[in-house]
Amino acid sequence: MKIVAVVGSIRRGNTLKMVQAACSRFSPDEISIIDLAHIKMEYCTGCLYCDTEKKCCIDDDMTKLMDKIADADAYIFASPVRWSLLSGEMKTFFDRLNPFATLGTLSEKKCILLTVGQSEEGSDDAFSIDAGLKSMEFFCENAGIEVIGSVKAYGCLEEDSIENSSYIKECYAVAEKLKEAIL
Ligand SMILES: Cc1cc2nc3c(=O)[nH]c(=O)nc-3n(C[C@H](O)[C@H](O)[C@H](O)COP(=O)(O)O)c2cc1C
Repeated sequence: MKIVAVVGSIRRGNTLKMVQAACSRFSPDEISIIDLAHIKMEYCTGCLYCDTEKKCCIDDDMTKLMDKIADADAYIFASPVRWSLLSGEMKTFFDRLNPFATLGTLSEKKCILLTVGQSEEGSDDAFSIDAGLKSMEFFCENAGIEVIGSVKAYGCLEEDSIENSSYIKECYAVAEKLKEAIL
């Protein structure tokens, strides 16, 4: 079983901790973590070179990661909510997967989605977390990736807010669900 987990926040905060919690449910040799804080990744320019050539014309760290991403059975995508959307880092990562679009490389793969924001559950701003998650779900729907489960972590403003919260247990549970789905 090969899982690729993507940390969609530069900050060493809640998103990273959620990914670490989910990954702890797999054996280390099954997991590859792509931490967007640690790779060189240019923006997609929208040139559509990939539609004809089936690869990106930009040569950066994403070039080296494409085979690993294509070979994975499943993904853990994690992003903080920003302006009721996914993070810019995560969006750029998704954009750079466009070479897989016409090939259908990602279709029928499975994933779990982890999101975190400062909005409090039940507050007027709570929609923000749903919307952030939705933006990741839209990517998965477009790419043909089945979403097995997700975690929405509310009320996490500071970088360590999620520590010792019930959301960490939710990350364990959704990771177990993914494990069962790909057995
Ligand atoms: C530019 C920016 C926009 C944000 N927008 C939202 C938002 O729309 N809704 C929300 O609940 N939290 C929002 N937040 C708060 C972050 O989602 C929150 O602090 C989260 O814990 C950050 O995760 P991280 O520690 O993994 O980076 C925003 C933070 C920043 C920096």
